[in-house]
Amino acid sequence: MATRHFLSLLDLTAVELMQLLKRAIELKAMHRAGEVYTPLKNKVLAMIFEKSSTRTRVSFEAGMVQLGGHAMFLSPRDTQLGRGEPIEDTARVLSSMVDIIMVRTFEHEKIETLAKYSSVPIINGLTDWVHPCQLLADMQTWIEHRGDIKGRTVTYVGDGNNMCHSYINAARLLDFNLRIACPEGYDPDPELVSVADDRVSIIRDPREACENTDLIVTDVWASMGQEEEQKQREKSFADYQVDQTLMNLANDDALFMHCLPAHRGEEVSAEIIDGPRSVVWDEAENRLHAQKALLEFLLLNQ
Ligand code: CP
Ligand code: NVA
Repeated sequence: MATRHFLSLLDLTAVELMQLLKRAIELKAMHRAGEVYTPLKNKVLAMIFEKSSTRTRVSFEAGMVQLGGHAMFLSPRDTQLGRGEPIEDTARVLSSMVDIIMVRTFEHEKIETLAKYSSVPIINGLTDWVHPCQLLADMQTWIEHRGDIKGRTVTYVGDGNNMCHSYINAARLLDFNLRIACPEGYDPDPELVSVADDRVSIIRDPREACENTDLIVTDVWASMGQEEEQKQREKSFADYQVDQTLMNLANDDALFMHCLPAHRGEEVSAEIIDGPRSVVWDEAENRLHAQKALLEFLLLNQ
C-alpha cells in the first residue's frame, strides 16, 4: 500500500479525521489516568525544523516518548540540509533510517518533494501554506468543550495565512461555516476559497463577521518569515484585533482560540486571550494528544 502522508488535512477523509479526534480524546484520558501505552517501541521520528517552535517540537518529542518511541531534532544549522544537500537525497537517506518524519519549513513544495522521495510517512509541522497539526488540536478542543462542530459558525479574524488555509480545509471536512475577516490584500488563496465557497465567505468588516458566531479564531499578523513586514502589517490589521467588542457580538457561549504564540495588544487583547471564553491552554495541550493519535494512525493503522 502507498505510504500515507499528512501534508494537509485533506490527506484524511472526513471519517478518518473524526476517528482520529475521537482517539485523541481517548489517548488524553489514558494519559491523565497514568496508563502506560507504548505501541511505538523502537520507532523513531525525525523532526526537521527550518523555523522556530515551542509547541510543535515539545508535543511531538514528548508524544513519541510517551508512546514508547524516540524523537530526534534536526535543524538546518547542524545538518547537511543547511549546506545545500538536496531535499530529495535527504528524504531517501532519512527514510532508510527512521520510521516517520515531521517537517516545519517555508515553501509547501519542499514538503511535497520530501514526501515524493520518502518511503516513510511525512507529517507537516507547518509550512507557509498550511498548519494541519494545529487544526487537529483546535478541533479536538472544540469537540471537548462543545461537541460536534458540523453546522456551526466559525469566524477567523486576521491574515489569510497558513492557519486560515487550514481552517478552510477543516470547514470542508467537518462541514462548518467559516467567515474570514481580513483586510484587503491579505486574503487567503482564492482557489482554496472558491472550492469551499458553499461554506466559506470573506467578510471585510470584523464586526459583521463576528455577529452570532460560535468560535472566534485569530493568529499573528506577521508569520514566521514575514518579520520585516511587521510595521506595515500593524497598520493594515489595526482594525482587526479580537477584543471585547468583537467577542460581545458573538454568541453567548462562543469560544476563543489562538494557535500561539500570541501578541497581546496586537491580534488579540489581553482580556480576551486571558479571559473566560479563551481555551488557548487546552488547545496548546491538545497538540500532544492529537499528534499522538496521528502518529498511531500513520504508523500502526495501515
Ligand atoms: N502553534 C504552534 O505551532 O506553536 P509553535 O510554533 O511553538 O510550534
Ligand atoms: N501563522 C503563524 C503560525 C505559528 C504557529 C506562522 O506561520 O508563523
